[in-house]
Amino acid sequence: MNSAINEPDQFVYVNNERFRMFLPEGDIQKRVQELASVINRDYAGRTPIFIGVLNGSFIFFSDLIRRIEIDCEIDFFKLSSYGDAKISSGNVKLLKDLNCQVTDRDIIIVEDIIDSGLSIDFIKRLIAKQNPRSFAVVTLLYKSDCVKIDFKVDYIGFPIPNHFVIGYGLDYGQKARNLRSIYILDK
Ligand code: IMP
Ligand code: MG
Repeated sequence: MNSAINEPDQFVYVNNERFRMFLPEGDIQKRVQELASVINRDYAGRTPIFIGVLNGSFIFFSDLIRRIEIDCEIDFFKLSSYGDAKISSGNVKLLKDLNCQVTDRDIIIVEDIIDSGLSIDFIKRLIAKQNPRSFAVVTLLYKSDCVKIDFKVDYIGFPIPNHFVIGYGLDYGQKARNLRSIYILDK
């Protein structure tokens, strides 16, 4: 049972598995404001394109973008790698491409979570082909033990352990994206 109605309980059950409170709504909102403040400062006088990676980043993206005070544009990629499982298929598919021109623009990719790093690596290669002026990545969550990429992630909300998490846009079998806090699988 998806127990969104029970928030902010310490536990929620999704697909009969138990998840415990990990990052409460208030902590997330505070961190999102901090990330936005740094980006506002770093990009002062520029007009970056914020590119969200659907589906998972939609809530983080909308909270972050409303705290951006500089001129900016937005666009979205849609990728798929997890299907309904808790482990990545290791096979990244592009389900929706960008509509904007990236050449000579400042690009900021907005991710919900970087796990293996396969998706962000795929995106970086795709964008690099179009010669952006600059390329940066902001991710709310970063599984530091798993990530295998050879570039630095510019803005990280929370480094987290290698456990499956849900809520605030992140799903388990497409459920639980609507939870306002982030919950971690309770083993
Ligand atoms: P990566 O390609 O392994 O870095 O994983 C990228 C995508 O997998 C993320 O953007 C998420 O959509 C999804 N993902 C990775 N870890 C989790 C998790 O713990 N919970 C839910 N989705 C996840
Ligand atoms: Mg994602």
